[in-house]
Amino acid sequence: MKIDFANLQYQYRLYKDEIDQRIQDILNKSNYIMGEEVYELESKLSEFTGARHAITCSSGTDALLLAMMALDIQLDDEVITTPFTFISTAETIAFLKAKPVFVDIEEDSFNIDATKIEAAITEKTKAIMPVSLFGQPADMEDINDIARKHNLKVIVDGAQSFGSTYKGKKDSVLGDIATTSFFPAKPFGCYGDGGAVFTNNNDYAEKIKMIRIHGQSKRYHHEYVGMGGRFDTIQAAILLAKLPHYTAEISKRQKIALQYSELLKDRVITPQIKSDRTSVWAQYSVRVKNRGELQAKLKERDVPSVVHYPIPLHLQECFRFLGGKSGDYVVAEKVSKEILSLPFNPFLSCEEVEYISESVKAGSAIYR
Ligand SMILES: Cc1ncc(COP(=O)(O)O)c(C=O)c1O
Repeated sequence: MKIDFANLQYQYRLYKDEIDQRIQDILNKSNYIMGEEVYELESKLSEFTGARHAITCSSGTDALLLAMMALDIQLDDEVITTPFTFISTAETIAFLKAKPVFVDIEEDSFNIDATKIEAAITEKTKAIMPVSLFGQPADMEDINDIARKHNLKVIVDGAQSFGSTYKGKKDSVLGDIATTSFFPAKPFGCYGDGGAVFTNNNDYAEKIKMIRIHGQSKRYHHEYVGMGGRFDTIQAAILLAKLPHYTAEISKRQKIALQYSELLKDRVITPQIKSDRTSVWAQYSVRVKNRGELQAKLKERDVPSVVHYPIPLHLQECFRFLGGKSGDYVVAEKVSKEILSLPFNPFLSCEEVEYISESVKAGSAIYR
């Protein structure tokens, strides 16, 4: 059996007629930049998430920049975030010359430990940026309470969690501003780069819309220093074709995750989802003691696996200037040594999940 990690080809074949038709329409119209499909998608994303404004943009990374630029985060401001995430989360903070301040994660959810956030707040702190890692929202009520108490803004990096919920609300409405990524392998991915910013605040929305198109209020009138951050019409058309299927895909993801956990729970540490929230399972990531050995065994059986993420951000070369060192965030360091993502997509069959799970069992020591 040969296992595909994200199986994007299968997904395309499944929705091919709708996707091809949508792309052909754009080719016929040649409305490649900010065509009506972009606005149609934004309206549907707003409906799907419950956010008053959904503003598409060029990537999940640019979505974070747009969110922080709307909040005027700049030189020497501090933004509290997690060290266990993809680089973009902290990279965008540093890109704006602000300072990422890391707070360790919880061992069970892999998300920022809200109980440790207050100790990291200083006079320079402007915002808290939790990440809904692997698809599961962080402890947003606690985080929003802390933010309110200290007059801080909350930006949710929801690159991996579009469609997940927390106490019945979609991930995209949990902070002052939330973002997502439409990178192809994300739960709701397009066929190139893309992202979106969500907010209920009209002023932020207006500013974000301007900044994404060179800060312009109207053509050749530039109110802010902005960026070339538009989302392509063809990519919007692809997401319009995929959106009607997404809720069913989320359910399939949740069923597959349950099946994995049932099969693997006595062998490895399986991912835990808190009872008041749901995950869209951007990754199904287990913790093991003998990761290198297990990956080699899986490879022999044609089962791909990926490490998300091998180096916590405080130990990355690019953040050396922050002065982080080994031992600073012990949970993130421990998890980064043990974590391993298994193949995951909504089209995995029961037999495939069984085969992958058997392969994991054959290659891993019991976690103690
Ligand atoms: C947590 C997180 N933040 C931000 C991003 C950036 O998204 P993009 O790749 O669309 O720029 C990613 C994408 O991998 C991510 O996983």
